[in-house]
Amino acid sequence: MAGENESILVKPIESEGELMQALAIREIVFIEEQSVPESMERDADDAQAFHVLAMEGKHAIGTGRLVMLPEAPKDETGSWGRVGRMAVLQSNRKGGTGSKLLTALEAEAKKRKLVGIMLHAQLSAMEFYKRHGYEPHGAVFEEAGMPHLEMKKKL
Ligand SMILES: CC(C)(COP(=O)(O)OP(=O)(O)OC[C@H]1O[C@@H](n2cnc3c(N)ncnc32)[C@H](O)[C@@H]1OP(=O)(O)O)[C@@H](O)C(=O)NCCC(=O)NCCS
Repeated sequence: MAGENESILVKPIESEGELMQALAIREIVFIEEQSVPESMERDADDAQAFHVLAMEGKHAIGTGRLVMLPEAPKDETGSWGRVGRMAVLQSNRKGGTGSKLLTALEAEAKKRKLVGIMLHAQLSAMEFYKRHGYEPHGAVFEEAGMPHLEMKKKL
């Protein structure tokens, strides 16, 4: 079952050093592994986002972020957030870390009284998000050189 690994702790990023660890994981996963252009990987949202870090002991193995959307997605109302930059180091995948990261981001979204979360899922990650209650909307589109789908979940 996803989420059963007790030795992995997910924490909010609280310092510049922890943000650097998150960006290092994203560099390995998105830029090196998935060949996302470096210019796209880091963006202006990083400064405002709520970031989380998954720790296995002293080692950071995963990250993700929640960004407040300035307006609700199409056909929706109220305050929405966007989850993104979900990344777990390859050798640590399929052990529930991604699920723990997503749960922590959703908990923060609920704390902020957001009514829903949207995201752009890589097709390869669609099943992962479906398992967490996200529903696909619209057609497949290309982003960062990979096929993506918009997905949404009401909280
Ligand atoms: C997407 C990603 C963050 C998921 O992280 P993860 O740590 O592998 O996530 P989990 O372990 O919680 O779940 C992944 C899968 O492993 C399975 N799993 C979880 N624990 C497991 C276990 N103990 N044994 C076997 N399978 C397990 C889950 O059922 C899940 O299956 P699904 O993909 O069919 O839903 C990770 O694959 C990743 O970093 N991918 C590359 C970057 C990327 O594509 N990011 C998403 C951009 S939209």
